[in-house]
Amino acid sequence: MIYLDHNATTPLDERVLEAMLPYLASAHGNPSSLYRAGRIARDAMEMAREQVAALVGASPAQVIFTSGGTEANNLALKGLAWSLPRGRICVGATEHPAVLEPARFLAQQGWKMDCLAVDESGRISEEALSAAFLDPPRIASVMLANNETGVIHDLGRIVGRLREHGTFIHCDAVQGIGKLAVDFAALGVHLMTLSAHKIYGPKGIGALVLDPATPMVPLIHGGGQERGLRGGTENVAAIVGFGKAAELAASELFQRREHLLRLRLRLERGLAGLPGVTVFARAAERLPNTVLFALAGYDGEALVMLLDRKGFAVSSGSACASGAAEPSHVLLAMGIDAGVAQGAVRVSLGRDNGEAEVDRLLEALREIVGDRRPCTQPVA
Ligand SMILES: Cc1ncc(COP(=O)(O)O)c(C=O)c1O
Repeated sequence: MIYLDHNATTPLDERVLEAMLPYLASAHGNPSSLYRAGRIARDAMEMAREQVAALVGASPAQVIFTSGGTEANNLALKGLAWSLPRGRICVGATEHPAVLEPARFLAQQGWKMDCLAVDESGRISEEALSAAFLDPPRIASVMLANNETGVIHDLGRIVGRLREHGTFIHCDAVQGIGKLAVDFAALGVHLMTLSAHKIYGPKGIGALVLDPATPMVPLIHGGGQERGLRGGTENVAAIVGFGKAAELAASELFQRREHLLRLRLRLERGLAGLPGVTVFARAAERLPNTVLFALAGYDGEALVMLLDRKGFAVSSGSACASGAAEPSHVLLAMGIDAGVAQGAVRVSLGRDNGEAEVDRLLEALREIVGDRRPCTQPVA
């Protein structure tokens, strides 16, 4: 199988596995225990906190470990909302369901929820921002990069304007870390969500990075772990794995980014030679690894299954949404026709992919559309 779905999840890096193994076996202490075995677990966890903080330019005390990006998004939005008077919450129209759903839940509890509209390239539109300030929101959530299209939001512009109005700003950076340089302090957001399994770390572990001045109540009460914001004995092995994955992502960022961008451009050049291809959000600044496209006349899920038979793992839009036949809310928000959006297929490249794999994918797509032109001699 040629795996091309790294925005859904990435394989575990062998070095990460190696770092985790002792904490799944002999080093089994509870980090809250006072004796030596507990201290060993606690020290490992605190080192991981430093590694995760370093990846995003935060201080270790700002990192709260959670069970993943979904929980961190829920903690960010509900934990903040429940410590503020009810008001308005604005979220980007193309956010992941792990942001949209908690915001909708808050709307059921008396918050007023509005979506910030995006333009045809998937970027938060200037008009939407200006309209938002007529009644400044108490909370706003804008993702760093979109999981389906790869569109990178201009957070500098958005955050600067929101902060002027005293809005608390959350950023879901799950798809940005490991692919882009991310600096929590420089971005100026109050809360940031991270997840390990998109950066070659284990599944089921993530973090909320939290500015200390941000009010917050826990969703899970318990033994006071994670500064009282996330009760429950910590998943030490996963935390250690997250730390190692973060350290590697930081040290290899430049090579990974250059490599991914080269592959993406090669894929896009090849796609341009196919009949009836649309690459979505083409004009926007995008993640170096993500291409969302459609082939005229092909349903996205059908194309995913045809490619699966040929040995490729790609996704039709967001993995979390696959199984649902609805066209992507991201593309609909960009004003793409529902019929065209239904054809969307996402290729998200990874560190271990190579040019030959991109070429094989293009060859497979050519076979599927019956367009073998590049493989045959020109007709005289
Ligand atoms: C942008 C974004 N946010 C949040 C999540 C959820 O993260 P997790 O799978 O760690 O719960 C994902 C996963 O696909 C994502 O792409």
